[in-house]
Amino acid sequence: MQLSEIYQLVEEDLTRVESQIKAVTEVDSPRLAELLSHILGGGKEIRPALTLLSGKFYHYNLDLLLPMATAVELMHTATLIHDDAIDNSTVRRGRPTINKVWGEDKAVLLGDYLFAKAGEFAAITGNLRVIMLFSQTIQIISSGELDQAFDAFNLEQTRARYLRRISSKTASLFSLATESGAILSQAPEESIKVLREYGCNLGIAFQIVDDVLDFVGTEEEMGKPVGSDLAQGTLTLPAMLLLERYPDDNPVKELFHNRDMPEGDKKKKIKQAIELVGNSSIVKQCYEAASDYCAEACHNLGLLPDNLSRQALKDIADLVISRKR
Ligand code: IPE
Ligand code: IPE
Ligand code: MG
Ligand code: MG
Repeated sequence: MQLSEIYQLVEEDLTRVESQIKAVTEVDSPRLAELLSHILGGGKEIRPALTLLSGKFYHYNLDLLLPMATAVELMHTATLIHDDAIDNSTVRRGRPTINKVWGEDKAVLLGDYLFAKAGEFAAITGNLRVIMLFSQTIQIISSGELDQAFDAFNLEQTRARYLRRISSKTASLFSLATESGAILSQAPEESIKVLREYGCNLGIAFQIVDDVLDFVGTEEEMGKPVGSDLAQGTLTLPAMLLLERYPDDNPVKELFHNRDMPEGDKKKKIKQAIELVGNSSIVKQCYEAASDYCAEACHNLGLLPDNLSRQALKDIADLVISRKR
């Protein structure tokens, strides 16, 4: 199943989100307009789709859901711009990154601009609970990214720590997307909880798969470089499992211990690690972990009214596992 098929139910409204985002690029400053047009659009739009779909169970109010879905996608894009600057990454959504073309300073400022723009859209909902959640989510994402930065090249990390980090940096935004959709459609508290937890577990699965695709995906499909987590010293689940399997002679260990090794040697170590992971059952093990989170995500959806949106949320969970981009 393709994303476009799953999105069918909210297709028209997702197009409206795209129009709102396009309008964000229409600013007086031609240079700012150029930067905004460069980065906005071209993503999978999974988070705004989740907000709209989560709003389909009770009172679907487009006047509130549309600005929130837009806010969520703008916030996501802001985090990507900053993440690429931090990671020194060169490609995003199949195009050169903002930091690569315009420099890190512009990336910091453009990210800030989009966080603020996202806040403006969240404020349009006039819903204080949602606006609070929006702000708290930026704090949680930042703290997750900070943990990751502080843990760079640290080999002594537990799986619990990894899960905490990805819950913060990724799952928090997925749960904002679903929870805000629920709140803005006047869902009862039990349903808000179901959708919040769905978003949280789905987000964890999404990041585990992203981390596997950083080993076994292709830049062409992903629209961003692969092998970059190891290059940044980020220990993800596949790398942790590789360390468990080969505790002594291990390319990840060598790479993290000798951070000053020549670039060519680094590339070799990363290639070795990618091959070892690809030729082992580690990939399967990671997909099993991600599938468990997707199953957990869907576990309580049965408590929501039975409608097409409920099926779409289940389909998204399947797609998170089978996706190649
Ligand atoms: C990338 O998210 C960041 C992660 C949480 C892994 P997406 O894969 O949803 O990025 P776009 O929006 O489709 O580019
Ligand atoms: C997700 O982590 C980034 C954010 C939460 C912003 P990654 O660093 O794995 O994302 P990609 O792989 O660069 O998209
Ligand atoms: Mg990154
Ligand atoms: Mg990644």
